[in-house]
Amino acid sequence: MNTESSRHSSSHAAELLTTPNVALPVDKELVLKVIPMPADCNANGDIFGGWVMAQVDLAGAVVPARYVNGRMATVAVNQFIFKQPVRVGDILSFFADVTRIGNTSVTVQVEVYAERFHSQKKYVKVTEASLTYVAIDDAGRPRKIQSKVEKTQEMM
Ligand SMILES: CC(C)(COP(=O)(O)OP(=O)(O)OC[C@H]1O[C@@H](n2cnc3c(N)ncnc32)[C@H](O)[C@@H]1OP(=O)(O)O)[C@@H](O)C(=O)NCCC(=O)NCCS
Repeated sequence: MNTESSRHSSSHAAELLTTPNVALPVDKELVLKVIPMPADCNANGDIFGGWVMAQVDLAGAVVPARYVNGRMATVAVNQFIFKQPVRVGDILSFFADVTRIGNTSVTVQVEVYAERFHSQKKYVKVTEASLTYVAIDDAGRPRKIQSKVEKTQEMM
C-alpha cells in the first residue's frame, strides 16, 4: 500500500469510528436519492454547494407539484444551511414536507442526509433548507392553487 492509499484508508477507519448516526425523519417524505460524482466537486475536493442547491431545488419541487398541478417556479430560497460537507460517493437522501400553503405558493422544508462512503446505514444530516414554489399560468403569472382542505380530502 502506498503512502497516499494508507492515509486514505486510515482516514476512512477514523471516520467509521466518529460518524454520528442520526435518525431519519418520520414526518417527511423521501423525495430523492442521489450519489454525487467527482465531476460535482469544488476546489477543496468536497461537493460543490451549487450542485447540492440544485438537487435540493429539484427535491423540494416534488411535493408542491401535487398541489400546483401544472407549471411552477421557485420564487425563494428562504433558508439554506450546509451543516456538513458532502463527499463523492455519499448516498444522499432528501426528505421534504410542506410548511405553508398559500393562495399561489407552497413552502417546503427539505432535509438532506448522507450515508458516507464505507459507512452505509449511518446517517449524517448535511443540509437543511426552506424553499417556496409558485404556481404560474401560461404567461408566467402567479396562479391560484387548490386549497389545503380540497387537497387533504383528495389525498385521504
Ligand atoms: C414566481 C413569480 C411569477 C412570482 O411573481 P410575483 O409578482 O413575485 O408574485 P406575488 O408577489 O404575487 O407572490 C406570489 C406568491 O409568492 C410568494 N412570494 C413572493 N416573493 C416571495 C419571497 N421573497 N419569499 C417567499 N415567498 C414569496 C408570495 O407570498 C405569494 O404567495 P401566496 O399567494 O401563496 O401568498 C415571479 O417572481 C418570477 O417569475 N420569478 C422568477 C422565477 C424563476 O425564474 N425561478 C427560478 C427558476 S424555476
